[in-house]
Amino acid sequence: MEKEYKEEKERGTIHGLVDVPELSLVYMHLDLGSFHSTKQFVEDYKTSGRPLHVLICNAGIVKPRPEKTDDGFESMLQVNYLSHFLLIGMLLPMMKGNAVTDDTRIVLVSSDAHRMCRFNLAAINYDDDPMKFSGFDYYGRSKLYQIMQMYSLQRRLKNSHVTITSAHPGTVETEIGRDFKDVKLYQFFLTMTRFFGAMRDPLDGARTIIDLAVNPVYQGVGGHYYKDCSVASVTSTASDVQKQEALWNVTLELLKGHLSEEEIFCLEGADP
Ligand SMILES: NC(=O)c1ccc[n+]([C@@H]2O[C@H](COP(=O)([O-])OP(=O)(O)OC[C@H]3O[C@@H](n4cnc5c(N)ncnc54)[C@H](OP(=O)(O)O)[C@@H]3O)[C@@H](O)[C@H]2O)c1
Repeated sequence: MEKEYKEEKERGTIHGLVDVPELSLVYMHLDLGSFHSTKQFVEDYKTSGRPLHVLICNAGIVKPRPEKTDDGFESMLQVNYLSHFLLIGMLLPMMKGNAVTDDTRIVLVSSDAHRMCRFNLAAINYDDDPMKFSGFDYYGRSKLYQIMQMYSLQRRLKNSHVTITSAHPGTVETEIGRDFKDVKLYQFFLTMTRFFGAMRDPLDGARTIIDLAVNPVYQGVGGHYYKDCSVASVTSTASDVQKQEALWNVTLELLKGHLSEEEIFCLEGADP
């Protein structure tokens, strides 16, 4: 690993952010499409004895058709939102209990797609005619929920050293649209984005997220949505406190039985 790094550095193909030859990566299994797997991941992480200073919730999917998880939820709702909420809820006592740092951060990778969806808690879990399903609408909703969760949780974290922010990475050349290869409108959007030079490579897309995760200027700063390393506006729905609280309550109801009483107290602002 170190040898490859040195060779790449000499060739000049490594720039800036990856300048850490002794980087130690450990891979662990996690399927956010399953609450069982998510809970197992948390147990495995706790057993590993590693501390937790930064949690970046980056995983995400977009699906053109409604798919149900084994837990009975529309897949984008569960993978993009509910399982991340569960993950945070289960890890928060550990994050609040960090003895070695007074700077612990959660970063939710959301999207400007939150601007192009409806907010309807009665239909949070899609159960209608599959032909009427709009993948982009439900993707946008899942990203909207993340931003609303960010505001709700930051209010409850105000007396702790844990902060939560969310971010839009830009339009990034990744595999996110793998299930939309046949959707002409989406392909047209990608072509135009590339044509106007607005398509980012993954390193560029990661910049705001890494900035929020490690830049010392964000110590103690939470409750904002970022784009291009700057605070950005959100929709009026996303910033509506009543709607945020309604979503919070519905979410806790959907996760009933998965979070312990102590974890819920901790999410609600209590010390672990
Ligand atoms: N690309 C964009 O233009 C864009 C724009 C706005 C926001 N975003 C957001 O950026 C984030 C990263 O997406 P990306 O563009 O990098 O897409 P991507 O290339 O498709 O990567 C998605 C990531 O999510 C992980 N993932 C998917 N399903 C999972 C599951 N069930 N359990 C655990 N991990 C799962 C994947 O892990 P594996 O590789 O192991 O499958 C992969 O690491 C997403 O939250 C997305 O909504 C992207």
